[in-house]
Amino acid sequence: MMNKKNRLIVICNGKSCRRDGANHLIKYIKENANNTVEFTTKYCFGRCGNGPVTLILPEEKLIENCTLAIIQKFIKKY
Ligand code: FES
Repeated sequence: MMNKKNRLIVICNGKSCRRDGANHLIKYIKENANNTVEFTTKYCFGRCGNGPVTLILPEEKLIENCTLAIIQKFIKKY
């Protein structure tokens, strides 16, 4: 199992993704992921309209239409 420093989740906080609910994901991560993964935001992945868009590293997995359930699963996994 990798430690916290090896895991990063990047949530788009661009206008389109915020309209699609990114703020809920960001709030949840801030409140729940402190000891599991690193977290940051990025302004737009160029996938507007398919939000919220989230990038998971180091896998470099880009998730469109990301849900709270996906975030919860990711946090629990590590
Ligand atoms: S605003 Fe999120 S991908 Fe563009």
